[in-house]
Amino acid sequence: MYVCLCHGITDKKIMKLSQEHGIYDVRGIRQITPLGSQCGKCIRTAKEVIEASVATT
Ligand code: FES
Repeated sequence: MYVCLCHGITDKKIMKLSQEHGIYDVRGIRQITPLGSQCGKCIRTAKEVIEASVATT
């Protein structure tokens, strides 16, 4: 599923990046992707995806 439509970033991509880079918050994802830099509507969903990803690792 697309989390960030503006930049085509999926939940799978966020989970992969978070696991590969040891990122546990949206800020970390935003440092390595343009997530949230356009309309910002994806931030909340991205946060939920990261929290779910952290909970399963
Ligand atoms: Fe992510 Fe617009 S959906 S910046």
